[in-house]
Order: sequence, then structure tokens, then C-alpha cells
Amino acid sequence: MKSVVIERPGELQLQDRPLPEPAAGEVRIKVKYASICGSDVHIWHGHNPFARYPRVIGHEFFGLIDATGSGVDSSRIGERVAVDPVVSCGHCYPCSVGRPNVCSELQVIGVHLDGGFSEYALAPEGNAYPLPATIPDTLASLVEPFTIAANISAFLKPQPNDVALIYGAGPMGLTAIQVLKGVYKVKTVIVADRLEERLTMAQANGADRVLNNSVTPLAEQLNGVQPTLIIDAACHPSILAEAAALASPAGRIGLLGFSSEPCSLTQQSLTSKELSLFTSRLNSHRFPQVIEWMEQGLIQPEKLVTHTLPLIRIEQAMTLFEKDPRSCCKVIISMN
Ligand code: NAI
Ligand code: MN
Ligand code: ZN
Repeated sequence: MKSVVIERPGELQLQDRPLPEPAAGEVRIKVKYASICGSDVHIWHGHNPFARYPRVIGHEFFGLIDATGSGVDSSRIGERVAVDPVVSCGHCYPCSVGRPNVCSELQVIGVHLDGGFSEYALAPEGNAYPLPATIPDTLASLVEPFTIAANISAFLKPQPNDVALIYGAGPMGLTAIQVLKGVYKVKTVIVADRLEERLTMAQANGADRVLNNSVTPLAEQLNGVQPTLIIDAACHPSILAEAAALASPAGRIGLLGFSSEPCSLTQQSLTSKELSLFTSRLNSHRFPQVIEWMEQGLIQPEKLVTHTLPLIRIEQAMTLFEKDPRSCCKVIISMN
């Protein structure tokens, strides 16, 4: 089988690898479509602190189950599945409270384990979620990025009367807009980015108001409007302090970033308004929920897709994704 392997930081190869056999409790998936995420690029360049090498990358993928390991019902062969990349132990404290995404032995498919930029991939059977026929093959890999927005929303509990502010109109910001508007019916969703083209994408994904903060600070543009719910999907360490300053009293702030640089803010900026701060990593069992949202037409994954390229053009696809944020959002890789 052909697989995209990051041999070591900086070295991307399309390798011929032996077909893997599913172990007990696993299924093998004949991958049909996958999508590129920022973390794939980070693993390629050696900027992902969790990655181990060599690694088959790709954690957003869809395909058909084509083999089952012992203990797995072989009638699952042929199922169309989207794969949850979160592999957890099931017995540690976070697992016991329903948060396998921060399992103390967390393994992420495509990061710690070989992933889906490959003609075939393995996954624990419970991670392979069957999809209804109404979700087309070409969009099924996008369940995973929407689970990020689903997970942070579960903490933030958006309400129709919220005034939401989302920092960043990359894939993460755009999925958050769609979930706040389409699922939670939030009346006002304001989006800030530094790139006009990304703000245009934000509008196409449902933003009510877009603000370019490359020159004029947001405080000036918001002119007294105090967001009640803020999501940082841009993830620069300077954003948290600004978000706390802009937020309404009793507001909630959700953070997605992994920067190792310190964020500087005062206790007073949080406590005087009794702000709630939530962080969210990957997803905790959110695949069924997102699949249902897609099936009901509450979210529109097709709005994120700007390019589709075959597996053999993976390096070009990843370079385009990395270098061209003005024209590029989600890039789909087709395996055949
Ligand atoms: P992206 O790089 O495509 O999008 C970020 C957007 O933010 C860009 O459009 C950029 O122009 C904009 N931006 C940068 N600085 C800004 C600022 N100061 N104010 C307003 N906009 C600004 O990245 P993507 O894929 O959308 O991911 C966003 C972040 O989410 C990344 O930092 C990534 O590490 C993080 N992430 C976190 C996950 C989690 O589970 N916690 C999962 C996936 C991504
Ligand atoms: Mn992703
Ligand atoms: Zn665990």
C-alpha cells in the first residue's frame, strides 16, 4: 500500500508499505478520502511536540472497513466509517469521567499511531463510526474537524442570545461559526481575522459581522459591544488578555491553542467580571453528535472544501495548504 510517511522532521515520503493486519479489537479501513489539518503540517516540520517518527500522518479520514481483527464482528466489513483519532485506555481518571481525549495514555491516530494518509489504516473498532448514506464520501473526513467545535461548544454552552466573538477564520474558526449558527442558533456571531480573504470565508460560513484586526484594534471596532462568548481559534498567546478585556461580565472564553509561550493577564481581569475560562483538546466521543448534525443539515462541511488532490500529490497539497491561507481552507486527499 502507498502511505505518506514523515520519516523524520522535514522529510515527507510516499512509501510502499506492507498491508497491516488488524490486531484483536481493531478494524482495517480502506481509506477513500482524508483531509489535511494544520497539525499534519506541524508533524512534517517537526513542530508538533507529541509526534513520534517515522509516522504515517493523517487523522481526518474516511473509508470502508475491509478486514476485522479477532473479537470484532466480521459483519462490519463493508461499513462506511469515519474514524475518531482519539485512542484512550478506558480506565484512567479522565477516561472514567468521560474525557478520553485527555487520557493519561492518550494516543492519537496520525500523531502517536500511524494514520490515514494511506491506502489502508488501522483503528480500534469503537473508533470507526458508521455513516448514514446521506453524508457523501467526499465530505466524510470533515466530521473530525467539526468535533473540535462540538467539544469546545459543550463547555461553552452557547445560547441564542449570546453575542459570540471568534478569533481566527481558519478551518477551526469556520467550523465554530457553523456550529454556533447552525446548531445553537446564536443570534450574533462576530469573527475577527487579519486576512480579508479569510473574513470572506467567515461570511460564507455564516458570520453576522466580520472585523479585520490587522490595523485597528478590536476594542475600537466593537465600540462598546461586549461579547458574552469568545472562542480563540487563532491561538496567539496575546489573545487571551484581549479577550478578557473585551468580554461581557459573566462571559465565557474558550481556548484551543497549544502555544508554549506565556499568556500574561491579571486575576482582576477575569475575577472582576467572573469570567469562565475553558480549554478544549480534540474531542470526547463527539463523532455521533457531529454525524447527526451533518445528517440533519445543521452544518455544511462542503463550505470548507477549497481543493481536492490525489494521494500522489500530497506534498503539493500540503504546501498549498500551508502557504496559501488566502485561497485555501480544507484540502481533501483522494486515495484512488
Ligand atoms: P489557521 O492557521 O488556518 O487559522 C488561524 C487564523 O487565525 C488565520 O486565518 C489567521 O489569519 C488568524 N489569526 C492569526 N492571528 C490572529 C489574531 N491575532 N487575531 C485574529 N485572527 C488571527 O489554523 P486552524 O487550522 O484554523 O487552527 C487554529 C488553531 O487551533 C491552531 O493554533 C491550532 O493549533 C488549534 N487547534 C486546536 C485544536 C484543539 O483540539 N484544541 C484542534 C485543531 C486546531
Ligand atoms: Mn484536525
Ligand atoms: Zn485513559
